[in-house]
Amino acid sequence: MKTRENKMTFESMNEEATEFFNRHGWVVINQRLDEKAVNDVRTSWVELRERCAQEMGVSMDAYRKEISQWRDLWTQGGAFMNLLDNHEQVRGVAQEGMDWSGVRLLHDHIIAKPAGKTNKKIPWHQDSMFWPVDLPGCSTWTPMEDVGVTGGCLEVIDASHLEGCEQPVDFMAEERWEFGDDAERVLLPVKAGSTVLLHSLTWHRSSPNTTNSDRPVHIGLWIHPSARWRPDLVDWHPVNAHCSIEPGYRLEGGMFPMWGDIEETQVPDVQIHDGTVRSGGISMFDASSILSRQISTILKKEGTLSSLLSSPEQRYEVMEKTVEHGVCIKSQDEEILAVLERLYICHAAYVLHKARNVFNATYADWWNLAGEAWAKTLEE
Ligand SMILES: [Fe+2]
Repeated sequence: MKTRENKMTFESMNEEATEFFNRHGWVVINQRLDEKAVNDVRTSWVELRERCAQEMGVSMDAYRKEISQWRDLWTQGGAFMNLLDNHEQVRGVAQEGMDWSGVRLLHDHIIAKPAGKTNKKIPWHQDSMFWPVDLPGCSTWTPMEDVGVTGGCLEVIDASHLEGCEQPVDFMAEERWEFGDDAERVLLPVKAGSTVLLHSLTWHRSSPNTTNSDRPVHIGLWIHPSARWRPDLVDWHPVNAHCSIEPGYRLEGGMFPMWGDIEETQVPDVQIHDGTVRSGGISMFDASSILSRQISTILKKEGTLSSLLSSPEQRYEVMEKTVEHGVCIKSQDEEILAVLERLYICHAAYVLHKARNVFNATYADWWNLAGEAWAKTLEE
């Protein structure tokens, strides 16, 4: 596959930029946030991260290495809400780029790839496959630091939004590599405060951040105001818990703020995709519930993953049983305890603050070290 670095950017979401977006499935708009707005968002995020680590009683270092995603930031108001509420900041890029009369937020989040090469890759995927709605939408990708090609920048398959939606991708499964001989991978280095608009059918990924500074990016996920809720397509998505409407009706409610006007759309004749496919074993869709059940069985106690692993004594007991049952050997005790502590941080962060390890790395580490062997042992 050919690869090139993008040099094309636009000063505003004008006609040329819209035309470029329609053709390519992505576009870079310069400086949507001024320096003050960037600093305000970054400061709010740093404070949020410190507050969360403190409330969980874990060191900032351990928290920083483990937790990489914070959701529903707009509900906190302040700089996070300004980004969305101010048409001149990121929201206008979404609405104008899609040429919609209004726009609705599915949810927002910050994803930070920590410095120090501890982060993983996000594999190639299309966002639409993860959204429980019947129409494609778009996302806005706005970094709070300059992101170069080694800093975990966004990579896209040019014009891939024109090819429809394929099977949902499990971030914990084998990555798709094949895109045909003509496919072109474009790397999108972006300045702090600039915004990438990405169509939800555009194939994209990001590589690990290999620089010495964290890479916080604000991501807004935008749907058409008349898009209908389809929880059957994406039954695992956390936003499903925010819906009080009936499936098949317009996705609206207090957790889905809307700006502009609603223009009715028809229910599409063809499904956007065929729903989530689970291939057995562990998947990103069910990892925490699978591991909760597993640890609960090992300890012969009821509870969630974080409640079962909250004390060093409980983690020690899991480690001892793991060795006792021949799942691991005694010399792996430190390694087992370290992963169990990370599992605790991961799950507790989600329960307490809707924050998590977006790479699912800790779930995968436990599965590879002991979880898969435990699953076989428990089956016997
Ligand atoms: Fe994505």
